[in-house]
Amino acid sequence: MFKTRLLIRIFIIYFILFFLISVWYLSKLERNERATPLNHRLAVIVPYRNRSNELELFLSHMNSFLNTQSVDHIFMIVNQVDKHRFNRAALINIGFIESKSLVDYIVMHDIDLLPLNHELTYKYPQYGPIHLASPEYHPIYHYLSYVGGILIIKSEDFERINGMSPLYWGWGREDDNFYVRMKRVGMNIYRPHNLSTNNTNTFQHIHDQRIHKRDYAKYGKQKEEGRKIYPELGFNTTKYEIINKAIRKTNQGIEYIMLDIKIECDYNLTDWCDHPIDTAN
Ligand SMILES: *[C@@H]1O[C@H](CO)[C@@H](O)[C@H](O)[C@H]1NC(C)=O
Ligand SMILES: *[C@@H]1O[C@H](CO)[C@@H](O)[C@H](O)[C@H]1NC(C)=O
Ligand SMILES: *[C@@H]1O[C@H](CO)[C@@H](O)[C@H](O)[C@H]1NC(C)=O
Ligand SMILES: *[C@@H]1O[C@H](CO)[C@@H](O)[C@H](O)[C@H]1NC(C)=O
Ligand SMILES: *[C@@H]1O[C@H](CO)[C@@H](O)[C@H](O)[C@H]1NC(C)=O
Repeated sequence: MFKTRLLIRIFIIYFILFFLISVWYLSKLERNERATPLNHRLAVIVPYRNRSNELELFLSHMNSFLNTQSVDHIFMIVNQVDKHRFNRAALINIGFIESKSLVDYIVMHDIDLLPLNHELTYKYPQYGPIHLASPEYHPIYHYLSYVGGILIIKSEDFERINGMSPLYWGWGREDDNFYVRMKRVGMNIYRPHNLSTNNTNTFQHIHDQRIHKRDYAKYGKQKEEGRKIYPELGFNTTKYEIINKAIRKTNQGIEYIMLDIKIECDYNLTDWCDHPIDTAN
C-alpha cells in the first residue's frame, strides 16, 4: 500500500517536471525561430557566352548590390561552349539544376542589365515570382507580358512549371513562353511599383549591339513552334554535358562558379539549333 502511494507520488512529480521542462523548451524554440529568420540563399544564374569584358563589371556590381541588401548568394555563370545557337532557356535550366542543392531561390539575370536603385529588392520571393526588370522601368522593353531581363523565383515555383522550354535556339521568345507557363498554373507575377526612379535611371543597360549582334533568324518551323507552350518540355528534358566546372575569382576576389556547358540538340525536335551555314562547314 505504502509502496503504491510512493510510486504514484514519484510519478506525479516526474510528470510535472516533464511538463514544465517541455513548456520552457518549446517557448525557447519559438523565440529562436522568431529571432533568426530562415536562411534563404540565392543563386544568380547568368546565361553566358563570350562576354568576358562584361563579366567582371557585372560580378563586381552585383556582389556589392546584394551584400548591401544582406542577400546570401552564389554566382553561377552558365557558359555555352558548343557550336549551336545561343539557348538562354536551356542555360537557365542547367543553372537551376546545378545550383539546386545549394540554394532555395534563383534569379535569372541578364549580364547586361545592372540594377541601380536599392528599392529593387533581391530578397526571397515569398509570395511568388518577382519580375524586377519591369516594363515600367526597363530602359527598352515596355510590353506588359515582358518577363525577361531579371526574374526572381523560388526553386519550388521554377520546378512546379518545369522551368523554361528549351526549344528556343537563337534570340527571343523563351521569356514569353515562361510568362505563359507561370500564368497557366495561376502564379501571380509581382513587379516593383512606385520607385523613386524611372525607366532612364533604374537600370544600367550595357548591351553593345555592335559587339553582340542578336541572332534573330528563324528557320523551318521555328516561328510556328515558338508559339506553343509544351509544358512537358523543360528542365527535365534539357540534355547537356558539363565540360568544366570551376570556382573562379575576379580580380577583386569575388567568387563565382563557371560552368562550361555543351547543350545537346535534338534535331528531331528542333532542327534550328544551328545556322544552315554552320552545318555546311
Ligand atoms: C565564342 O564562344 C565560342 C564557344 O565557346 C567559341 O568557339 C568562339 O571562339 C568564341 N568567340 C569569340 C570571339 O571569343
Ligand atoms: C504609390 O505611391 C502613392 C503616393 O505615395 C500612393 O498613393 C499609392 O498608393 C502607391 N501605390 C502603390 C501601388 O503602392
Ligand atoms: C527620370 O528621372 C530623371 C532623374 O530624376 C529625370 O531627370 C528625368 O527627366 C526623368 N525622365 C522621365 C521620362 O520622367
Ligand atoms: C517532365 O516534367 C513534366 C511536367 O512535370 C512531365 O509531364 C514530363 O513527363 C517530365 N518528363 C520527363 C522526361 O521526366
Ligand atoms: C530521330 O528520329 C529518327 C528517325 O525517326 C530516329 O531513328 C532517331 O532515334 C531519333 N533521334 C532521337 C534523338 O530521338
